[in-house]
Amino acid sequence: MKIAIIVIIVIVLVGIITVGCRLLNSRNTEATIAVTAKLPGKAAIVYFSQSKVQNTALVAKWIQKHVDGELVEVIPVNPYPDAYSDTLKEANRERKEETPREIQPVTIPEDCEIVFIGSPIWYGTYAPPIATFLKANPLAGKTVVPFCTHGGGGAGRFEQDVQAACPEAKVLKGFVARGSNQIERRLDVGVPSHHTEDDVITWLNGIF
Ligand SMILES: Cc1cc2nc3c(=O)[nH]c(=O)nc-3n(C[C@H](O)[C@H](O)[C@H](O)COP(=O)(O)O)c2cc1C
Repeated sequence: MKIAIIVIIVIVLVGIITVGCRLLNSRNTEATIAVTAKLPGKAAIVYFSQSKVQNTALVAKWIQKHVDGELVEVIPVNPYPDAYSDTLKEANRERKEETPREIQPVTIPEDCEIVFIGSPIWYGTYAPPIATFLKANPLAGKTVVPFCTHGGGGAGRFEQDVQAACPEAKVLKGFVARGSNQIERRLDVGVPSHHTEDDVITWLNGIF
C-alpha cells in the first residue's frame, strides 16, 4: 500500500515538473519590453557556464543582446567531467583544498568600465573558474554587475563574495535566475532559465 502511494506521488511530481518545464520553455521567448537602460561606458560580460543546458550562458547572452558589450567566456584549462556527480566531487575537492582552477587566458577590453560577472552557483557561491578570474582581475575602479543561475538553492553568498573579491569596485545589484537542476535535466525537461529575457531587461532598466 505504502509503495503504491509513493509511486503515485512520484508520477504526479514528474508530471508536474514535465508540464511546468514545457510551459517555462514557452516563456523563453523574445523580449517584449523596451530597454531604457543607458550604460555609462563600455561593458564586458564575463561568464562561466558548465552544464550541458548552459543556464548561465543564456543569461549572459541576453545581457549582451541588450547592453551591447563584449561576451567573454571563462574556460577552464581542464574541463569538468560530463557526469554531474563527478563534477560535484571534483568541485567539492577543489573547494575544500582551496585549489585554484586554472583557466585559459582571458582578456577584457582595457577601456571597459562595466564588467558583468556571471557564474552558476556552486556550493553557495561562484564556481572556481570565476574565483580564478577575479583573483587575477580584482576590477578596481570598475562597476561590477553580478549575475548567477542556481539549481533551486538560491544565490547564497554569491554577491557578497563578488564584493569581497573586488573591494575597490562598485558592485551593483545582481540578477539571480533559477536554471534547470539535475533532476529536470535527467528527465529531459531542463530549461536554461526559469526567468525570461524580459526579466533581464527589467533588471537592467532598474540598475542603469
Ligand atoms: C558542483 C556543483 C555545485 C552546485 N551547487 C549548487 C548550490 O549550492 N546551490 C544550487 O542551487 N545549485 C547548485 N548547483 C546547480 C547549478 O548552480 C545550476 O544547475 C546552474 O544553473 C548551472 O549553470 P550552468 O548551466 O551555467 O552550468 C551546483 C551544480 C554543480 C555542478
